[in-house]
Order: sequence, then structure tokens, then C-alpha cells
Amino acid sequence: MKIRSLVSTACLSLALAAGAFQAANADTLRADAALKADQSDGTISRYIYGQFSEHLGGGIYDGIWVGPDSKIPNVRGIRSDVVAALKDLHVPVVRWPGGCFADEYDWRDGIGPRDQRPVRKNNWWGDAPETNQFGTHEFMDFIDQIGSEAYLSVNVGSSSPKDMREWVEYMTSPGNDTLANERRKNGRDAPWKVAFWGIGNESWGCGGQMRPEYYADEYRRFQAFFHKSATNQGLKIASGANAEQYEWTDTLMKMAGGEMDGISLHYYTLPTGDWNAKGAATGFGTDQWVSTFARTLKMEEIITKHEAIMDKYDPQKRVGLFVDEWGTWYDVEKGTNPGFLYQKNTLRDAVLAAANFNIFHHHVDRVKMTSIAQTINVLQAMILTDKDKIELTPTYYAFKMYVPFQDATALPLTFTAPQYSAGGNTIPAFNASAARGKDGHVYIGIANMDPADNIVLSVDVSGLKVTKVGGQVLTADKMDAANLPGEKALVAPVDYKGGKIKGNQLTLDIPSKSVVVVQLN
Ligand code: AHR
Repeated sequence: MKIRSLVSTACLSLALAAGAFQAANADTLRADAALKADQSDGTISRYIYGQFSEHLGGGIYDGIWVGPDSKIPNVRGIRSDVVAALKDLHVPVVRWPGGCFADEYDWRDGIGPRDQRPVRKNNWWGDAPETNQFGTHEFMDFIDQIGSEAYLSVNVGSSSPKDMREWVEYMTSPGNDTLANERRKNGRDAPWKVAFWGIGNESWGCGGQMRPEYYADEYRRFQAFFHKSATNQGLKIASGANAEQYEWTDTLMKMAGGEMDGISLHYYTLPTGDWNAKGAATGFGTDQWVSTFARTLKMEEIITKHEAIMDKYDPQKRVGLFVDEWGTWYDVEKGTNPGFLYQKNTLRDAVLAAANFNIFHHHVDRVKMTSIAQTINVLQAMILTDKDKIELTPTYYAFKMYVPFQDATALPLTFTAPQYSAGGNTIPAFNASAARGKDGHVYIGIANMDPADNIVLSVDVSGLKVTKVGGQVLTADKMDAANLPGEKALVAPVDYKGGKIKGNQLTLDIPSKSVVVVQLN
């Protein structure tokens, strides 16, 4: 049973392009906002829109790699449909090869002639055979094809600083040394640029079950053998906390903060909060829609508390907070391998992605990078594939709509949101953020998390003379509308026509359960 905090229940007929999405019994809420378009809250790093691709289920094999002999169109084994879709997202960085997989990965397994590479058991993910057909060269080719940058996760849990040092040298040395020459023999002459190096992953868990003090020492030891050079300017990222593990961040910052460029944070959204029964990706009701948003919005509090700890040791904010795993984690789809973490993706995921973007935009002085888990066929994916079929998920479209926020200037936007309650949880009906894009236009991104009610948002705009209001809106009739390979897509953005301007008063009609990105000219 839901309880609304209505600011107004006036029944307006909304002049939306997406008007068809207005439910017959929907109420219309009113809310106020103020936008200061001539001020700056800092730069929204494009790396906030990063991706994470692990050797897990269909994330790499089938999802990215089909091999050069496949009938599925590919360039050097990498599927062309996936490359085209990701290019449109302007993916700034991809984290690879894991995740938990990274702390069992031997980078040497994935170089040299493909027919001579060893097959290993993927112990973390369904015991699947890891053929190593996709290794360092294939990953960097993929990165080049989509126009992105690399974030490599180093094996700390079951390997040594020597292995890390040699991987770094193999990839980045310009010289006439044995490792650089081995790289050349394997087909790559010039050193690669790697933007970020993760020193371990979830070292408190699958990455070695370490205590924070022990990992801090391990981190210090590994990073001592990580040599920056003219061709290796990659940043060193320490393996950070899980969600509310504040003690981990405190110990790491205290013992090794001066030796790192960034520290990671992982936070997954489970509709129920229970790892044994997380909740389904589809077929959920209003109560679980609301509990999912209540949990995802905890990201705000979690970031704020980790930031406060970091501020204690690093008031200059030199060390970045890298939220390099986030997103929804549901019960796996029935009939799929439980170790493959395959889940459907619905309108709920898209709205949730936008709500998280808006949170990240409010922390740009500390949050320098994030990567959603994961790009293809795993958890909250951008793309689902089924053999030669491919479908772009609702989450994909949320990322696409927010592309103008990459490297944009965050603008102060204040608002008061009505509340929505169901099943014992209360959430704000919407959240939002604003920025001046690199193209000079001002953008407002809104996640309407209210599953039933439309919102009329009145924005007082200063520092900008608005002449035109455009943009895009993403919504659907049902909360769990999904896009699946081989089926009709139910969720895709359309032009937004719900905005009006009068003097400095902007009025935005925002449909329930939607993502809206408004462009102001
Ligand atoms: O994204 C799936 C897994 O979640 C990653 O491998 C691990 O780092 C996290 O626990």
C-alpha cells in the first residue's frame, strides 16, 4: 500500500511527447527547483561513466569476443555490433579483467599465439573453462575499437609484485628490453597507455580475505614496485571498502593514503538487501520498486561518509574515490547458470542508473571515476546478447542520455522533492543534477523514482536566458518493461516536449518512473 506526500493533486493534462505513458490514475505532484547556470560546482569527470567487464558468464566470451572465425560480424574476433553500440556511449574507460577473477588471473596466460594459450578453470564464476582467447592484446584492441581507455586490475591476492611489475613493463615499456620485445613479437610495437591500475580487488573478500592493516602493507609493497615513467602515467588505485566498511577506508588512508592516487568503493543495490533472496529482475511490485530505490539512494550517504574519512587524511582531495563496482544485483534468471549472474534489465534499472549519476554529480570533488557492473550479459548490463542477436538495455539508454554530462561543469541545482512511500520505505519522488556541457548547452538530468505520479517541476533559472527547451525522455507503461534480444524493445528514449519557458521560469512535466534529460538553449 502506498502513501503519497502530495504537494498538489491537481490533475493536469501533460503536454508530453510521451503523454501516452501517463497512467489514468496518476496524480501530478508539484516541486520547485533553482538553477544557477553561471556558477560552477566543479568538473564532472568523464570517467564517472566508466564500464566494468569481467571474465564472468557471457561478459567477455559471446559478449565481446566471438573469435575471428565466427559468422557473427567481427573485427579481429571482437563483435562489431557491440563495438558500434559502445562507441555511441562514448565509454571513457573499461575496467578489466575482474572483479574476483583478477586475483586468480595470470596475465601471461593471455598473451602469445592463441592456439597455445592454457585453459584454466574460472573458479569464481561457474567453474567455466577460461580459454584465455581474450587476453591483454585482445582487450587493448577492444579498447581501441570503442575509443576508450583501460583500467587494469592487478592480481594481488594470489600473485606477486614481480608479476605486476612485469605486466606493467610488458605493456608500457618503450625500450629495447626483453618484455617490450616480447610485446612486439606478439604484434604490438608501441607501448600502450593504461589510465588506471587497480592494486587488488575486494582484498577484504575474494581478493585474499585480508584485514585492512595487512592489505595496507600489501598495497604499500606492491606500489613500491609500480614504476611510473614517461610511458606509464597510470594512476594507482587501492582496493577499497565494501559499502559501509568505513574502517577499511580509515585504515587504508591512514597507513597508505600518501602512496595512492585513488581508492575504490563497491556498492551493489539488492531490492531486498538479502544476498540469499535478492529479488527478481522482473515481475516485482510497487513495494519492491520502492525498496530498490531506498537502497540505491544509500549511495549518497555511503559516499558522503567515506569522503569525510578521506578528508581527514587528504584535505586537498588529491586521492580520488573510485566507485568501480555499482549497480543492481538480482536473483539470476531461472534456467541460467547461477555463476553467470545473468539478469534482465528493465525501466527500473534505467531510472536507478540516472539516480546514481545524479548522486555522483554532487560529489565531483572526490568521485573521479565509477564503473557499473557490468557492460554485457552480467548484472546491470548495457547490452544483452544471444548468439548473433543483441539488445540495448534500458540502462544503456540512461547512459546514452547522460553523455553530455561527461567532462561537463556541474551547476548548482537545489530542489525539494515530494516523498513516496510503500512497503515501509520512503523515497524522494525524484532526484536531479545540472551541468553546462562541453558543447555550451545547459543540461538537467532528472530521475523520477515515483512509480505512479507525474511531477511538474518549476525551475527558477538564473545566469542563463533560455530560448528553447528540448531533450529526451525515457519511460514505459510498466515498471518492469524490459528489452530482450530477439524481442520487441519496450524501452527507448523519445524527444522530450514537456518543457516550457516563461521569463526565467522553466516548467518541466516529468512523467512517473522516467528519466528525463533536458537541454536548454
Ligand atoms: O561484479 C561481480 C563481482 O562482484 C566482482 O567480481 C566482485 O569484485 C564483486 O564482488
